[in-house]
Amino acid sequence: MSITVLGIESSCDDTSAAVIRDGVLLSNVIASQDVHAEYGGVVPELASRAHQQNIVPVVDTALRRAGIDKHDLSAIAFTRGPGLLGSLHVGTSFAKGLSLGLRVPIMDVNHLHGHVLSHFIRREESDPVPEYPFLCLLVSGGNSQLILVRNYNDMEILGRTIDDAAGEAFDKCAKVMGLPYPGGPHIDRLAAEGDAARFKFAKPHIAGLDYSFSGLKTSFLYTLRDNVRLDPDFVEKNRADLAASLQRTIIDILMDKLDKAVKQTGVRTVAIGGGVSANSGVRDAVSDYCRRRELKAFIPPRLFTTDNAAMVAIAGYYKYIDRIFCRYDQVPYARVGV
Ligand code: KG4
Repeated sequence: MSITVLGIESSCDDTSAAVIRDGVLLSNVIASQDVHAEYGGVVPELASRAHQQNIVPVVDTALRRAGIDKHDLSAIAFTRGPGLLGSLHVGTSFAKGLSLGLRVPIMDVNHLHGHVLSHFIRREESDPVPEYPFLCLLVSGGNSQLILVRNYNDMEILGRTIDDAAGEAFDKCAKVMGLPYPGGPHIDRLAAEGDAARFKFAKPHIAGLDYSFSGLKTSFLYTLRDNVRLDPDFVEKNRADLAASLQRTIIDILMDKLDKAVKQTGVRTVAIGGGVSANSGVRDAVSDYCRRRELKAFIPPRLFTTDNAAMVAIAGYYKYIDRIFCRYDQVPYARVGV
């Protein structure tokens, strides 16, 4: 008997629905919300309203593209947190309502758990997936974590950021350079044409496997402030070199702790996930590192790096296999680890 799971993601500013059958992706629909662009960041109330408008057509399209009827679903998975509470309520309430109507169980998914398990989304039966245990570097707009994954429902956070996330470092530095939100992809594009050795920014000295990015942010700000005093066009003239040097520093910080974690755990497989894992420099650095050390690298397709319901559906699928269901009195949560 095959297992068909509908996944629903509504934690931030993307409304997404996906269908997975026996671990193979049948459809993945994402409606991004353009409404936030003019505010330079996500506006929670506008996000909730957009989710409410999008959720029915997005789920409907996902079912149609998968070529199934809603009565074919075995269960429904939804992101319960972390994220924006109002946005999470839309997906959670929709999942509960549909499950009651269809008389199928629901599985609540931790968004970060979903990012880690995105490596198990297969588009073909034969697609390779990581072997346990593996190490996952999870880098997004809100989190930077090193996670030891022992099994699909057994993970341990070995290190996490003590202040800003890697994505915040990209976005905040990009903002002071006058780049649009989110700045990460713009830095990535500019960095390709810049000299990464031109500027030196502060790197943290934090014991263990925890990350810190706020010192880098401050040193970036000071470099800009000091130079703009001398030359008001400094940023304009040095955009690419600033972007390349910033990106290089962020990658060095990420790779330093990743290397420590690999040595500490002795794992032979490394995966990356989260929005920042779309960064070309991060992807190349992890691939090169794994090649040199003869480790297996799992670099997700860019589509699965940012928020998507396919990862929610796959995480829900594994909960379904273990019969870990969600009660109807469970409510969304804004913050938590993996
Ligand atoms: O995982 P995600 O979509 O949202 C969270 O759940 O946090 O990650 C968004 C983050 C933003 O900070 C964005 O700037 C960053 O991912 N990002 C990138 C790139 N694409 C997205 N950062 C650097 N280079 C990229 N190509």
